[in-house]
Amino acid sequence: MLTPEERVELDEMRSHYPTVRAASVSVLKWLQKHRGYLSDESMRDAADYLGLPVAELDGLATFYNLLFRQPVGERVICLCDSISCWMCGSDRIRRHIENRLAIRMGETSADGRFTLVPVVCLGNCDHAPSMIVGDELFHDLTPEKVDQILGLEDTGSHGGDHD
Ligand code: FES
Repeated sequence: MLTPEERVELDEMRSHYPTVRAASVSVLKWLQKHRGYLSDESMRDAADYLGLPVAELDGLATFYNLLFRQPVGERVICLCDSISCWMCGSDRIRRHIENRLAIRMGETSADGRFTLVPVVCLGNCDHAPSMIVGDELFHDLTPEKVDQILGLEDTGSHGGDHD
């Protein structure tokens, strides 16, 4: 159930949208930000609040890459795997991240700090490869730049960029 405080904040946000449907993605994003991910309970809370069917919101959550129905790490790395980024070396970046964090695409690091997920084109193709971490867009990625962004400069290598 939404707390009174959550309801106040959601009411304020909803007032900026003409309809509840228009507000629904923002409501889901807000709940995710404050609760970590969109659990079944959060989906029910959002549906009750908006007066929309849970199934409709579930459809939205499935459609939007940046809405998570499963628990995720503190920082979610959304690495673009569409064509321009792929041509500019996103595969190498993926392998680098996987090796550094000892995870595969779709997994969360053992310390719970990072989750790595693929996303479709971020509209930043002229600066490929690109990724979003949290709310921030990063581009022209290199392995060194990735280490800097993720704060991994001093953690040493976990075996290089091999498959
Ligand atoms: S293909 Fe990656 S940003 Fe467009």
